[in-house]
Amino acid sequence: MTEETAFALAESKLTPADFERVRDLIYRHVGINLPPSKRTMVFSRLSRRLRETGHDSFSAYLDSVAGPHTAEWQQFVNALTTNLTSFFREAYHFPVLAEFLKHRPDPSRPPSIWCAAASTGEEPYSLAITVLDTLGARSGAKIFASDIDTNVLNTARRGVYPASSVDSLEPAVRNRHFMRGVRENSGFVRVRPELGAMITFDQVNLSADEWPFREPFDAIFCRNVMIYFDAKVKAGVLERMHRALRPGGLLFVGHSENFTDRRELFALQGKTVYRRVG
Ligand SMILES: C[S@@+](CC[C@H](N)C(=O)[O-])C[C@H]1O[C@@H](n2cnc3c(N)ncnc32)[C@H](O)[C@@H]1O
Repeated sequence: MTEETAFALAESKLTPADFERVRDLIYRHVGINLPPSKRTMVFSRLSRRLRETGHDSFSAYLDSVAGPHTAEWQQFVNALTTNLTSFFREAYHFPVLAEFLKHRPDPSRPPSIWCAAASTGEEPYSLAITVLDTLGARSGAKIFASDIDTNVLNTARRGVYPASSVDSLEPAVRNRHFMRGVRENSGFVRVRPELGAMITFDQVNLSADEWPFREPFDAIFCRNVMIYFDAKVKAGVLERMHRALRPGGLLFVGHSENFTDRRELFALQGKTVYRRVG
């Protein structure tokens, strides 16, 4: 049997009914909308979980997942998220944030920023670099960085990255904010502790009805995650984002996400940057 045939056979074990169960579970609890075209991706990512948990069919594995109360649930979610990110991705947002921070209405209050789909941390550290380089070390600024995926949050907390991931940064920025690994750590960089000290990492499910915040934020970065949500989930997220922002606060979204249909909540301020209305 060729490798291709083996793969096709194995894939056929993820029956249409199994795939529907996966879609239903992840949509109901995380808001991610998996189109039929993602079946091969689901097969390959969950096959690994089957091997690790010792299940010999998707159906038995899915019985063991069943919902958020099970031990396997978080691994199931982690396996199905897509975490692509990079330092200063969609770089045009960072000067907009810097200007906003410099001219914020109440400079006596330390600014607060929420990075709502922080993935492996490159985005919140890029925010921390922007804050430090704009306001200096004494601003008291706080960044809250969250994601649904606990594996990426652990990577983010560690703050260690392949050296190649900072190649595209200006050498001055690289030297100011990263330490180069030596000996067994060569080929890696670590973010400097002052960046980590500004950031709190925790899990937040964007599709949950309630978010755990007492104080609103000055700015929210919620980039390249709403592409995974359908219109209904997106509408709920936008309404909660409106409440989670201070009046006049900014919402930054990804390049392919636009909300011009929610003008009562957000006014377009620049390329994929929205200002809270009201
Ligand atoms: C493609 S990454 C985007 C990372 C970063 N914001 C950027 O633009 O580079 C999408 C992230 O959204 C997270 N995510 C997906 N569904 C989520 C949800 N319901 N709540 C919170 N985070 C979620 C994924 O775990 C993943 O890390």
